[in-house]
Order: sequence, then C-alpha cells, then structure tokens
Amino acid sequence: MKPVRKAVFPVGGLGTRFLPATKAVPKEMLPVVDKPLIQYAVDEAREAGIEEMIFVTSRGKGAIEDHFDIAYELETTMADRDKDLSILDGSRFAPGNVSFVRQQEPIGLGHAVWCARHIVGDEPFAIFLPDELMVGTPGCMKQMVDAYGRLGGNIVCGLEVPEDQTSAYGIIDPGAADGPITEVKGLVEKPVPGTAPSNLMIPGRYILQPEVMGILKDQGRGAGNEIQLTDAMAQMIGKQPFHAYTFDGRRFDCGSKSGFINANIALALDNPELEPEVRAFIETL
Ligand code: G1P
Repeated sequence: MKPVRKAVFPVGGLGTRFLPATKAVPKEMLPVVDKPLIQYAVDEAREAGIEEMIFVTSRGKGAIEDHFDIAYELETTMADRDKDLSILDGSRFAPGNVSFVRQQEPIGLGHAVWCARHIVGDEPFAIFLPDELMVGTPGCMKQMVDAYGRLGGNIVCGLEVPEDQTSAYGIIDPGAADGPITEVKGLVEKPVPGTAPSNLMIPGRYILQPEVMGILKDQGRGAGNEIQLTDAMAQMIGKQPFHAYTFDGRRFDCGSKSGFINANIALALDNPELEPEVRAFIETL
C-alpha cells in the first residue's frame, strides 16, 4: 500500500461570506488567534506525515504563496534584533515540497482537485478544506492516516450534524459501523432537505486514491451547477474500499462567521497565556 505523501488544499474560493474582510485578503489567511487558517491545515498535514503540499489557488491569493515562502527582510531584521525565528517554522518548507496550481474558474471543488492531477500523479493523496478547522490530539488527518494503514482505499472524515444542516454538506449513506469506522454505501452532495440518507456529513478531510482524477475529468455538473468532488467519489464506491472515519476531536466551521468566532474563542481559551484574560472578559459579558 502506497503511503499518503501529498495533500491538496483547494484555496481558490472567493470568500464572499466574509466580505468586506476578504476583499483583498484571502479568507484562508484570516487568523484564528495568531495563525492563519491555512496554516492549521498545513500543520495538521505535516503531523500526519504528509510531505508535499499542493495549493489550488486563484487570482488574488498571492498572500498564501508569500506566507509559505522565505521572508528575507523580516527574517534578517528579526535575526539582527535577536528575535526567535522559530515562530516562523510552520510557514516554511523544504524547497520543492510546496507547489501552486491555478484554478482558473470557480466551477466547483471537484474541478479544483482535478486541477492538481499532474502534481498528485499516481498515488493516494489527502485533501484538506481549510475552512474546516479540526482540533484534536492527534489531529484529524493523523487519525485518518492511521485508519488508512489498516483499511487502504478511500477514507473521508464523517461527522454527525443536526438534520436541518444536512442540505449544506456532502452526506454519507452509511453501512456497517465498527467503532470509528463506517462503511460508505453512497454519497450525496447537498441533498434536498428531507431527503438526506443520514446526518453524517463530510467535514472537508479526505484520503483518496488517484483514480478519482480520471473520474473527475468527465464529471458533469451537480449541486449548485458545480463539478462536485462528492459525485466523483460516489462513483468509486463498490470498486474500491470506501469508509468514513469519525474523528475524535472538535470541529469548527470557519466558513461561517459564528464558527470562525467560536474557533477564536475556543483556541484562545486553550492558550495558557491568553486564557485568564479572555475568560475574565467573557465573564464580564
Ligand atoms: C464542500 C463540499 C462538501 C463538504 C463541505 C465541508 O462544500 O462540497 O461535500 O461537506 O465542503 O465544509 P462547500 O462548503 O464548499 O459548499
């Protein structure tokens, strides 16, 4: 079984839900406490043993490229002033371990992933939707990679949400369950309210076999008139093992304002330096 060495980060979205904040700043660069959202996803990938990061970007996303590059002026100035440079470690890669490919038109997550096909090549790969902030010990992808070591095939993270939220997500038609592992019998993207096969949604973490790229090539438009990753994955069920993994940890939907604010509060309270002041302030409210 080939190991999961590569991760795709689709970061081409316009971020309209966070306007005007995201007019000139990519939504993935919005900070949760002191780190941009995208770096949480990259840190999670690294922890899972992933070496090569592939960003699928679009116009106006240059700040992400700069973030994961060497910043000579900053680093030289910091070094001259005897500042600790290790704070920048998570934003640095060995040369050649990070690549960027453009998604030229916003026509869906499936299309974004397909744009990375030449860099992914013929090996299993992970996908991270950085809007979804997953907090756990170990992290979500590390838990999934460990499960992959036992199961192989394709694994998506699965998480229960209230019934009235299922129409916003990719939803799993579940088969037999064994602890955190559930067999996937079917997948549907953004089911019409009342028609969802379960309340088990996919919170933006995937380990997929490279065959999905061939399916995406011919994948027609689905929900929202977009080329959906979920539709392409659904075609692999029955041909390759396909499981959902229930992550042990916390999830914040940072694609929504309330989720993003909740993440900031929760992670500030997790931080021993900030916790007393932030908690005291919350109590005054
Ligand atoms: C995307 C995926 C969906 C997934 C969701 C997680 O939807 O298409 O399957 O459940 O992310 O946040 P989007 O939020 O881009 O509409």
